[in-house]
Amino acid sequence: MNILILGSGGREHALAWAIRQNPKCDRLFVAPGNVGMESLARLAELDILSGSAVIGFCEENAIDLVVVGPEAPLAAGVADDLRAAGILVFGPSKAAAMLEASKSFTKEVCDACGAPTAAWARFDTAEPARTYIREKGAPIVIKADGLAAGKGVTVAMSEAEAIAAIDDAFGGAFGAAGAEVVIEEFMAGEEASFFILCDGTDCLPIGTAQDHKRVGDGDTGPNTGGMGAYSPAPVLSQAIQDEVMAQIVRPTVAEMARRGTPFQGILYAGLMIENGHARLVEYNVRFGDPECQVLMMRLGAQALDLILACAEGRLAETAVTWADDHALTVVLAANGYPGTYEKGTEIRGLDQLAEDSSHMVFHAGTAVKDGQIIATGGRVLAATGRGASLAEAHERAYRLADAIDWPGGFYRRDIGWRAL
Ligand code: AMP
Ligand code: GLY
Repeated sequence: MNILILGSGGREHALAWAIRQNPKCDRLFVAPGNVGMESLARLAELDILSGSAVIGFCEENAIDLVVVGPEAPLAAGVADDLRAAGILVFGPSKAAAMLEASKSFTKEVCDACGAPTAAWARFDTAEPARTYIREKGAPIVIKADGLAAGKGVTVAMSEAEAIAAIDDAFGGAFGAAGAEVVIEEFMAGEEASFFILCDGTDCLPIGTAQDHKRVGDGDTGPNTGGMGAYSPAPVLSQAIQDEVMAQIVRPTVAEMARRGTPFQGILYAGLMIENGHARLVEYNVRFGDPECQVLMMRLGAQALDLILACAEGRLAETAVTWADDHALTVVLAANGYPGTYEKGTEIRGLDQLAEDSSHMVFHAGTAVKDGQIIATGGRVLAATGRGASLAEAHERAYRLADAIDWPGGFYRRDIGWRAL
C-alpha cells in the first residue's frame, strides 16, 4: 500500500522508519518531512493544513492511508476532509481533537464520565479568576484553554505568580488560545505518559513513556517540548495501567462515542501518579515528540499493522507483540533553545553513524545546504537506543549522541536518571 505521513519532526521520522520496515508499505511519502527521512520516503511539498491540498495529493499518488503526525492538521479538520473523500486516515476528527485543543472540553468530558483529574474552574474574565486564586491559594495551575504550542500552562508556586499568569492570558499573551482560562488544583506526584490506540469503540494500549520537559540536567531550567524520553515508564505498573484503562481511557472513549464524536487515533494520556493511583493531567490526540521515537523503536514494523487496524476499526481483534525491551532517546537542541537559538550551524558525523534496529538518530530540524547538514530548528536530532535493559538503551543512545560533531548544539546528560 501507499502511505502518506503528515509532519516534519522527529516524531514523523520515527513513524516513517517503523512503517518503512513493514512489507505492506509500498510507496512512502512524508509531507513536508525533513532531510533525515530522504532515504526512507519521498518528501512532498504540501500545505498539510489544507484538506483539499492533501486530498489532491492522495488522488495523484494513489495513497491508501494517511497518518497524521501533529495536532494542527487534526484541529484544522484535515482528517474529517480525508474521511469525507473516502481516504483511510489515522487521526481523530476535528470534534474529537478537542480533547487536546480545549482544556475545558477535556475537563467536562472527565466530569461527565467520572475520570479522576484535578478539580478545576473556567474563567473568561480576569477579576473572578483572581478572586478564585485568592480563595484557593498556591500552588495552583493556570492554563490557557486553547492550543498554545505547549506554552499556555503555568504551575504557580505562589499566588503572585498565579495572578501574573492570569494577567498574561487575559492580556493576550496566548492570543485567542488564552481568551478562556482553566484554573486547576495542583497535583503532586510523578508524571508519565500512556499511549492508547482507539478506533472509536475499542482501545489498545501500545506503550508507556516518560519524558524530560526541562532544558537542563537535574530537571532544571525552562520547559521545552521535551529533551529526551524513555519507554517503558516503570512508574506505570500493569496495575496502574489497568486502572487507568478502566477509570479514565475507556470511560472517555465511551463518552466521546455517546456524544456522536467518536475518537479514532492515538490517545496520549498525560498522567500524574501518586500513592499508586493515577489522575489525568491532559490528553493529546497525537503521538508525543520525542515519546514517539522510543515507542517506534520498540514496536518496529508492527507499528503499521497497529495503525492500520486502528484506522480500519479492527482493534478488537488486534494484539501488540511485546518484546521485553527498553528504548531511550536524547534530544540534541540548538544552543539557546528554548529561547532564541542560532540557525544554520553545521552538523558533522551523521553519515559515519552505524544505525540499525537498536541505534537510530531521528531528524527533527535539519536541512542540507551546500552539501552539509545544517540545523534549522530548536530541537534538531533525537539519538535513540534500544536494548534489553534501560541501561543498555541509555548507553546506545549516548554513544550515538556523543559521536555527533555539532558545536552549535547541546543535550542533557541525565536522560532516564529517575528510572536508572
Ligand atoms: P499540560 O499542557 O496540561 O500537560 O500541562 C503542562 C505541564 O504542566 C504538565 O506536563 C505538568 O507537568 C504540569 N501540570 C499541568 N497540570 C497540572 C496540575 N493540575 N498539577 C500539577 N502539574 C500540572
Ligand atoms: N513531549 C511532549 C509532547 O509531545 O507533547
